[in-house]
Amino acid sequence: MVNMIAVMIAFGAIIMVTNIVRYWLFLKSTKDVLSSGVSQDRIWEIVALALLVFFLVGYILVGLFGNPDLMMAGILYGGSIFVAIVETLLFRLIRTVKENCLSIAETLIGVVDARDPNLKGHSRYVRNVTMLLYDHIPASKREGINRVSLEFASLMHDVGKLGIPEEILNKPDKLTDDEWLIMKNHPRLGVNILKPLGSFKEILPWIEYHHEKLTGKGYYGIPDSQIPYASKIIAVADTYAAITMRRSYKPPRAHEEALKIMKEVSGEQLDQDLVEIFCNIPKIDLVACVPDTVEV
Ligand SMILES: [Fe+2]
Repeated sequence: MVNMIAVMIAFGAIIMVTNIVRYWLFLKSTKDVLSSGVSQDRIWEIVALALLVFFLVGYILVGLFGNPDLMMAGILYGGSIFVAIVETLLFRLIRTVKENCLSIAETLIGVVDARDPNLKGHSRYVRNVTMLLYDHIPASKREGINRVSLEFASLMHDVGKLGIPEEILNKPDKLTDDEWLIMKNHPRLGVNILKPLGSFKEILPWIEYHHEKLTGKGYYGIPDSQIPYASKIIAVADTYAAITMRRSYKPPRAHEEALKIMKEVSGEQLDQDLVEIFCNIPKIDLVACVPDTVEV
């Protein structure tokens, strides 16, 4: 009987430690575009973590010094299992909600792409390439750029094209200066569309400056020092996707040709270090980023 009580206490303590680690990792994973902006909930998240630790300490003290009987051991063991089940259900629910949010964003961006014959799948292509590039960037440089947030920013980078008249989007000829001015405003239109979503605040500048150049001669003339690193990552992916895609006015270019062009503009249009990292990504991984709807 004593052995059984000891085993239950030991297993319960191990499960509680696992629960705390899982919860801690969960808290870290919620610092993204879908979860931030609800700072009042942060307090309760910390309180819940403190209670889990408090419960574990109490558990160990009772186990070591409380001389627990079988009923007490069962209650403690059951408690740790209960927390594990609640955590599992909660994490599963949040994962489902996040997946659904991404699906909704993909649907919305599908509407944007459908209005422009040159965009077919472009946004998803840029998203895939952005995330691949992100995974190759050294961890120290990725600091401050949440993976999920970057995924949404790259997917939604051209959402402002919803505000561009179709006659401009679909114009087969060269755009006039006035039309080009309207077209160049799509990053800010995108920011206006997404502004009501409070938690997207962090990624709005990433979207707004995705057409800026290091020389300060981008769409809004923003100098290099003020261009967010996330925007530079998206710009590299956007450039590669645009070069390798078929457009009504140009055939798709080969992977090698795209790298050559990107190297030529690195340091002026694109970040030099990012282009270097990008050029070392295996071709097979980049080819895998092409969505079915994209013609390359
Ligand atoms: Fe754009």
